[in-house]
Amino acid sequence: MFIKSFKFYKSKTTEPDFSEVLDFQDPNEKFVDKKRIEVKGNESYFSLISPKEWQCYEIKDRPGLIFIRNPFTPSGQRFWISRCLKDYPKSPNVVNLNPKQFSKEAINDWWNCFQTEKNDCERKRLKVSMRWTTLGYHHDWDTKVYSENMKNKFPQDLADLTKFFATTLGFENYSAEAAIVNYYPIGTTLAGHTDHSEANLDAPLFSFSFGQKAIFLLGGQSKDEKPSAMFLKSGDVVVMSKSSRLCYHAVPRVMSCELEPYNNFNSNEPEEKKCKIVNDCDDENFWTPFRHYLKDSRININIRQVLNKGQLEL
Ligand code: OGA
Ligand code: MN
Repeated sequence: MFIKSFKFYKSKTTEPDFSEVLDFQDPNEKFVDKKRIEVKGNESYFSLISPKEWQCYEIKDRPGLIFIRNPFTPSGQRFWISRCLKDYPKSPNVVNLNPKQFSKEAINDWWNCFQTEKNDCERKRLKVSMRWTTLGYHHDWDTKVYSENMKNKFPQDLADLTKFFATTLGFENYSAEAAIVNYYPIGTTLAGHTDHSEANLDAPLFSFSFGQKAIFLLGGQSKDEKPSAMFLKSGDVVVMSKSSRLCYHAVPRVMSCELEPYNNFNSNEPEEKKCKIVNDCDDENFWTPFRHYLKDSRININIRQVLNKGQLEL
């Protein structure tokens, strides 16, 4: 059933029917419950709107799955997008680019190489070849085992952001220790899988999406169960906690989205005047290369806690 849905939404020969895809921009109460969150404290966090304004949902029949509709400010989205493209793929973080096909410079600082490349064909190759970078404990795609020997410092800003979400949603003692940043040019997919390599399978998994939209499938703990399909748009946050933590999920389709909050500064959005690093992203000269990249791409940051409480290493 899972594979059947995956193929249905992936289809390139005929445009699939999207009428069963949950859209939290216009949530259907038959399938979706508004989640009341007990906001802890009154604090705001840089790059985000106040938690009092967050629109949090749960899906009926999918306990533990929490959906927060874009809680980022437009400049906040710009900040995280630029971190994912310009900074996180830098060495010593690990990227998927194969040393037989790409220069050392590209493997060590992909964005800089992509931006300075003069040859259009090579630029295109650099753009579409970048599919993931790993942070903290590096995911080993073959063995699926994390190890102390394959680990770098997890970016403090991303760890702090994730901890803020965790605390606000009532998950205490969360620690972000591993992340995959996925880059999806339109047309690419991510096959059905579960994320079970972490020693700690109780801590929730956090997923932040930016750029063009995706169809995300969330199934059960076996591939026999028919998954729910939902759109993930720029800024949307998905938390896989409790009984959804080990469920099958996939991205069968990335497609263009009418919403591009990072490009459209709406005067109703609160202006961010507190934080210089976020406001610097408003500068259009700074933003232009990222705008170009995102025209036909999606980015997903997928964050896990690896260690159990009190465990110091693997
Ligand atoms: C993953 C994952 C989902 C997404 O990286 O493990 O499931 O939305 N990503 O891209
Ligand atoms: Mn996953």
